[in-house]
Amino acid sequence: MSAPAFDPVARAFAPDAVGRRVRLRGWVLRSRSSGGILFLVLRDRTGAVQVTARRDAIGDAAFDAAEHVQNEGAVTVEGTVHEDRRAPDGREVRATAVAVIDAGQPFPIWSDQTEEFRLDKRHLAIRSQEFVATFRVKAELLRACRDFLEREDVLEMTPPILSGNAAEGGAEAFQIDYFGRPGYLSQTAQLYLEALLFPNERVYALTPSFRAEKSRTPRHITEFQHLEVELAWCDLDGLLAFLERMFVDVTHAVAARRPRELALLGRRPEELAAIAAPFPRMRYAEAIDRLRAAGFPVAWGSDLGTAEERALTLESPQPMFVTHFPRELKAFYMLRSPDDPRTVEAADLLGPEGYGEIVGASCRETDVGRLVERLTEMGVDPAPYEWYLDLRRHGSVPHAGFGLGIERLLRWMLRREHIRDTTPFPRTPSRHTP
Ligand code: 4AD
Ligand code: MG
Repeated sequence: MSAPAFDPVARAFAPDAVGRRVRLRGWVLRSRSSGGILFLVLRDRTGAVQVTARRDAIGDAAFDAAEHVQNEGAVTVEGTVHEDRRAPDGREVRATAVAVIDAGQPFPIWSDQTEEFRLDKRHLAIRSQEFVATFRVKAELLRACRDFLEREDVLEMTPPILSGNAAEGGAEAFQIDYFGRPGYLSQTAQLYLEALLFPNERVYALTPSFRAEKSRTPRHITEFQHLEVELAWCDLDGLLAFLERMFVDVTHAVAARRPRELALLGRRPEELAAIAAPFPRMRYAEAIDRLRAAGFPVAWGSDLGTAEERALTLESPQPMFVTHFPRELKAFYMLRSPDDPRTVEAADLLGPEGYGEIVGASCRETDVGRLVERLTEMGVDPAPYEWYLDLRRHGSVPHAGFGLGIERLLRWMLRREHIRDTTPFPRTPSRHTP
């Protein structure tokens, strides 16, 4: 016997649906019963609709069973679509049959619980309308990135996550026991993308990156989705122009395809659609001057922390590039600026409205001697990087790339207070479960 066909809940809202019969299945968002009528709001992946079930229409046994369904219990419903001004979306389904698939136990999540409790129950909390909207936007964002990169002729690669060397220098790498030898979880795919660049010229990867940072801030998680691009024959101007095209393209695509979800989360889609290149660019030295003028106790050589980055863009609806950082602040592989040996050809893209760093970008050092010199200066043994240094011995060419934190971008897009609410199962220093 073949399973009966079911309609998506959205079918009840089609222009021609009034008066038609539908068969729905899904989960109960909420319910109440009064005077022999049961009101259920039924949700599936396409939406939610009010169902009214009268005792005399569905029968005593079905009514009694349906009355005991908890929030998030699962049911199937047959009925007819009606216009109803009192229903939340102007339509309701009047049931002729309701079958309980799983009545469910009382759903433990409601409005005024602590954040810790909700994080403990994250596997259930992700059923909320906010999380559904969040992860739809996230999926759309990932799709928009891939679409853009395909149009730019950049090839997707699958670099390893497990490695014998810690790419960003080591301090923030999660170390693991790899059959008795040290191994590391990837902090960045960059070094492998650089190797893959020589045969492919334009490559990217979308992989999880891990950072063993004990930073308890609203923008750090220990596992994040990292979109990394590496381009041959590219200088800093070329890289920033590429980043501008990508940022504009993906924000516009998300605004166009997910306006309802954005609005539900408090972001007006027009704000994303208004993102326009070129983005303002400021050298690090100028950023320091501005911050000093605004009363920050910084000097040339200070790193820009959350508060400093926030101050630089708080009033701006557009992102901004800060370029030419002191080399001591940045990774060993960054190219020394030709016009100033104290700085590197690097840029951070700061999100609008004070959201801070979303992208780290740079031209890569092509000279093997300088790479070894920087590693040594930083107190890092060059031996595990020997394979990487080889890349500079066989057709080394100018190249550049960047890493974009998907959850950082999403945090700004969705105006989330905390980055953990842009990922279903956030990993932070105090939590890696559920
Ligand atoms: O600036 P980062 O450390 O740069 C790199 O890893 C380069 N190797 C990337 C490259 O050029 N291929 O990290 C890049 C981005 C940051 O701008 C930020 O958006 C994100 O990754 N990121 C984090 N996101 C969430 N939580 C954390 N703890 C993050 N650390 C970095
Ligand atoms: Mg960075």
